[in-house]
Amino acid sequence: MHVIDHPLVQHKLTMLRDARTGPKDFRDLMEEIAMLMAYEVTRDLVTEPVQVTTPVATTQGRMVSGKKLAVVAILRAGLGMVGGVLRLIPTAKVGHFGVYRDPETLQPVKYYQKLPQDIDERDIIVIDPMLATGGSAAAALAFLKERGGNSLKLLSLVAAPEGIERVHRDHPEVPIFVAAVDERLNEHAYIVPGLGDAGDRLYGTR
Ligand code: PRP
Ligand code: URA
Repeated sequence: MHVIDHPLVQHKLTMLRDARTGPKDFRDLMEEIAMLMAYEVTRDLVTEPVQVTTPVATTQGRMVSGKKLAVVAILRAGLGMVGGVLRLIPTAKVGHFGVYRDPETLQPVKYYQKLPQDIDERDIIVIDPMLATGGSAAAALAFLKERGGNSLKLLSLVAAPEGIERVHRDHPEVPIFVAAVDERLNEHAYIVPGLGDAGDRLYGTR
């Protein structure tokens, strides 16, 4: 469990939480935070020595070695983070996992999946800004494991303790990266204080 408390991440997250932030700024901020967090999530990437010729001399630098990456966005709200992560890792392939929470049962309902064909050969970063009950993230991770995914990380912005516990219980080997762990869930399983409904705020659907 990693809480990324970098000042820029915290500053932008506070702006994101603000109820007065409209969809355009909300989208921009989410993308910026995702990019900053991707920097930390990829800290353990393996590098290898590479010879490089500068305008002055030849020297040895380091570059990320061959390991392939995939980013899997949980729809819809995970889409708001894809651009930011790809800014840092432009060669990553992108998968999509469509799921929504049934408002009555709060259970995840799957409706769409599309993954890179070689997903079993890639390090996978699952992205979703909200980790509330943890049902959606746990379902996405289970689906990826069924498809052969064996190197998984979860990147969220705001988590409730309940969601962290759920993912730890179902997928104990998966590291979780968040910008904040909030107090609790309310009676509708919304994160308190949270930032509201991430999908609706991104796309202006409510
Ligand atoms: C939101 C959010 C997560 C999920 C988190 O999606 O983007 O995927 O809820 O809740 P959980 O941890 O309790 O599963 P939502 O179901 O609202 O769908 P949407 O992104 O399409 O609006
Ligand atoms: N999904 C959201 O978008 N927000 C929450 O607080 C909980 C689930």
